[in-house]
Amino acid sequence: MDPKCQCLELNDGHFIPILGFGTYAPEEVPKSEALEVTKFAIDVGFRHIDCAHLYQNEEQVGQAIRSKIADGTVKREDIFYTSKLWSTFLRPELVQPALEKSLKNLQLDYVDLYIIHFPAALKPGEELFPKDENGKMIFDTVDLCRTWEVLEKCKDAGLAKSIGVSNFNRKQLEKILNKPGLKYKPVCNQVECHPYLNQSKLLDFCKSNDIVLVAYGALGSQRLKDWVNPSYPILLEDPVLCAIAKKHKQTPALIALRYQMQRGVVVLAKSYNKKRIKENMQVLDFELTPEDMKAIDGLNSNVRYFT
Ligand SMILES: NC(=O)c1ccc[n+]([C@@H]2O[C@H](COP(=O)([O-])OP(=O)(O)OC[C@H]3O[C@@H](n4cnc5c(N)ncnc54)[C@H](OP(=O)(O)O)[C@@H]3O)[C@@H](O)[C@H]2O)c1
Repeated sequence: MDPKCQCLELNDGHFIPILGFGTYAPEEVPKSEALEVTKFAIDVGFRHIDCAHLYQNEEQVGQAIRSKIADGTVKREDIFYTSKLWSTFLRPELVQPALEKSLKNLQLDYVDLYIIHFPAALKPGEELFPKDENGKMIFDTVDLCRTWEVLEKCKDAGLAKSIGVSNFNRKQLEKILNKPGLKYKPVCNQVECHPYLNQSKLLDFCKSNDIVLVAYGALGSQRLKDWVNPSYPILLEDPVLCAIAKKHKQTPALIALRYQMQRGVVVLAKSYNKKRIKENMQVLDFELTPEDMKAIDGLNSNVRYFT
């Protein structure tokens, strides 16, 4: 890993950069943009790239990483790449083939982090969101402890340097942590986290178990109509964030990102806009005061954008 990169140590000895580039874009955005923006993000200094099979852009994101290695901007070991095991692949026999499919799309030999995307299984098959004739999602019954055991094997096989989870609550984490014969603890739990949903209890639990919390939706999410209720308040227009931003001559987005870093949370920032991608790197260049942190803590109001 690049020595200039600001990282946290994971419980398996690997390092994760505290700022990550979010690559998810809705279906209507051409996939070629993922290639362009990921290359740009690497050019301006992002070293942690968050992606997933579900996003259907691993081919382009992998191409971006490989092209930045080929032109000498980075080495493979400078990049921290996360992929996620989608819910239709949670049956033990489907786990390693799913990771191998991601690696094939990426044209990479390993991912730095492979995480269970969501703690609920969906019916296996081609459909990412299998539905019955009434449009209801078809779930599957899988013991996530068995899924976890295969992830441990993928780590041993070198296909993933580290393994973790996403969208797990405390009880679901405990189930893995208390599993008889556990070989590796999850290194992280990636969850929705921002000033309106600061996850302080889950963060304390994760810290006490040496699990890194990774924040998504840290800028208030993309407010996509299929996922987010449009009547929810817009995070980056919050008056407290705006006032702190003005005081530091920064933007509300940078305040929301910096807040996470100063509480020991790894933070993802999605942007497909070059000016904002560049801006988001500036989060490493200033500090919030304890009073600022306290004021932002006070915004916690249980607003969960992803319902
Ligand atoms: N594990 C999971 O279940 C899960 C769920 C959701 C997301 N994620 C991951 O987390 C990443 C980030 O979350 P997210 O996609 O919900 O979005 P987000 O990081 O909260 O960003 C929301 C929006 O903020 C805008 N933005 C970015 N930088 C900005 C700036 N400096 N000033 C003003 N606006 C700015 C972006 O729009 P522009 O593109 O127009 O700049 C973006 O659409 C995703 O891309 C994905 O990698 C994971």
